[in-house]
Amino acid sequence: MALDINALPINKKFNRRLVAPDTWIINPFAPNIATPRPYVVIGDEYALLIDPTYTTLPIREYVEKCVTDKPLKVLCSHSHLDHTNDNYMFEDCEIFMSAYAWEEIQARRKKEPKDGMWSQTDAEGKRVLMTKEQYGTYTPTIVGPGDKIDLGNRVLEFLPYEGIHSAGSLIALDHKTGTLFTGDEIECGQMLVMGRGNSTATIELLKENLVRLKEGWGDQIKQICPPHNGSPIHPLFLDYLIENCDRIMSGIDGEMDVGSMSYIHNPSEGRDPEQTRKILEDPDILRSEWKGTSIVYNKQKIFKKQVGL
Ligand SMILES: [Fe+2]
Repeated sequence: MALDINALPINKKFNRRLVAPDTWIINPFAPNIATPRPYVVIGDEYALLIDPTYTTLPIREYVEKCVTDKPLKVLCSHSHLDHTNDNYMFEDCEIFMSAYAWEEIQARRKKEPKDGMWSQTDAEGKRVLMTKEQYGTYTPTIVGPGDKIDLGNRVLEFLPYEGIHSAGSLIALDHKTGTLFTGDEIECGQMLVMGRGNSTATIELLKENLVRLKEGWGDQIKQICPPHNGSPIHPLFLDYLIENCDRIMSGIDGEMDVGSMSYIHNPSEGRDPEQTRKILEDPDILRSEWKGTSIVYNKQKIFKKQVGL
């Protein structure tokens, strides 16, 4: 008999794992390995929920009952639906995001509904239906590089980073634990540098971002916490990523295999097979793997001059 997840007590609908003192990664109980994992970063006065994610389970109830009793604030690493869909559960909280992410969310709200529902394509190309309630009515606090969020004896700072995965991405360093929260910009398993949301995303720009991070904050970064494919990552990962970029720029082609575990083996995969085939067979989209890093990129967008920069 199938397990009814909704019938489980609240502490069994999710689980949590400590990645640093007062820093939790939350796993929604769902057979979908593509679901991003939210983080809860707890200060003396507030707790920050990073990316409320896309789950039908009551993430707010879980965080408030099982993780922290501090008032919540919310940070959106970027606007993609799999990270922001559940923002509507936090309308009364302060929600932080970049100006670009806010533009994208406002554009989403302007679309006309069909039968009272909005049909959307999420960041990974899956069709999803949303109710008006799920679009939310909140107005966020806009933040960008150099800005800080003080949670009470715990400060997160947004570092300069030109969004490659999404032009609206924010990268935040928690100065207390040396944890770098990267959204989908830096990931283990795979990084999608395919120009989605940023037509000028290139490997050259990615390398510039990574070198700037290393040179400016390399001695402070103790671990990297991405949302999708496993966390935390050792900071050496930044070096391996830079090496991977160098390999691509030196002419070493990746493989024509961009299929990730999350959409080939996932039983709740929502893409239609035709779309998956198109991605897999696109000769310009390659995957370069090096020392455990994996960069999915467009062969026509390796250097800035290829995109007119
Ligand atoms: Fe994303």
